[in-house]
Amino acid sequence: MITLGIESSCDETAAAILENDTRILSSIVASQIEVHSPYGGVVPELASRKHIEAIAPVVDEAIQSAGITAPMLDGVAVTQGPGLVGSLLVGFSFAKAFAYAMDIPWVGVNHLEGHINSVFLTRTPPAFPFIALLASGGHTAIYHVTSHTTSTLMGQTRDDAAGEAFDKVSKMLDLGYPGGKIISDMARKGDPKKIFFKRAYLDKNEFDFSFSGLKTGVRRYIEKNPRHLKKEVPDIAAGFQASVVDVLSFKLFAAADKMDCQHVAVVGGVAANTSLREKIEATAKRKGMTVHIPPLSLCGDNAAMIAAAGYHHLVQGQTSHLDSDVYSRVKNPGPEDQVFN
Ligand code: KG4
Ligand code: ZN
Repeated sequence: MITLGIESSCDETAAAILENDTRILSSIVASQIEVHSPYGGVVPELASRKHIEAIAPVVDEAIQSAGITAPMLDGVAVTQGPGLVGSLLVGFSFAKAFAYAMDIPWVGVNHLEGHINSVFLTRTPPAFPFIALLASGGHTAIYHVTSHTTSTLMGQTRDDAAGEAFDKVSKMLDLGYPGGKIISDMARKGDPKKIFFKRAYLDKNEFDFSFSGLKTGVRRYIEKNPRHLKKEVPDIAAGFQASVVDVLSFKLFAAADKMDCQHVAVVGGVAANTSLREKIEATAKRKGMTVHIPPLSLCGDNAAMIAAAGYHHLVQGQTSHLDSDVYSRVKNPGPEDQVFN
């Protein structure tokens, strides 16, 4: 079975071709970073316009570099939400029209379910059930994952997402956008023990997160210490990153202990963070657990993960209809909800 995946929920226009459940034949990601960076964040209207320009050439490139032709496709999987409505609509409408024209089934996929399925595109996929930490620019959450298409949300951020906190701290320090990679590179030059920022563990038996206090802590530190700021930037970045990494790692393993899971996964843009990867890998080793983290190319938004999740819906006969629409938020969020069904 050959699936075309399409992703356009934020500022990346992406298309991928997947053979069966895991073999990536091509994965094309057209980033809009240059368009948005002068504004220090994603401008939704500009993002929609750029998706419109990019969608057809990106899908074309994915098909060509996979070495297939459009009539060889068996189905289409497209991000349905959550995300920016204007951005989602471009990929979603394209996928609908494409599938209709080719007379093949198509399915709308939850973007977060897509991120979770990115771990199955690695050589050593996790065994069910496992605990997934999803940390991106829009979401930070912990899931108990029971199958490719079923997960229970155990906790999520009450305010900012982890990636958003990286982006905002980078902005505060005038370092540019997007902040994740910039802050993690800067942190490498600093000492994480020099400046201590509080860890927001909240209730240690629950799995919610909060990063707004940490963000305020960094802002206060900057305001109070303007004189040596330039010299201190690497230590601020390192101190901030250590606070985020400690909390994410703590909650992931606490959730695994609670659910008695031996396998943990980290997905989403923040999973690209070296310090987070190292900490989680070291902790898992100590505890005799197995950790699954996708390669960098599959951490950030991409369409291979959407095709991977969509494949499992399509083979079960779960398809979407022409009257279905995009949604900007997770439906029925809440600790007990089955988010993806
Ligand atoms: O998954 P993603 O590409 O898009 C969303 O679904 O949001 O995640 C993007 C987020 C951004 O906030 C970016 O700053 C963050 O992931 N990010 C990182 C790193 N690389 C990207 N955060 C920390 N360290 C990194 N190396
Ligand atoms: Zn994402």
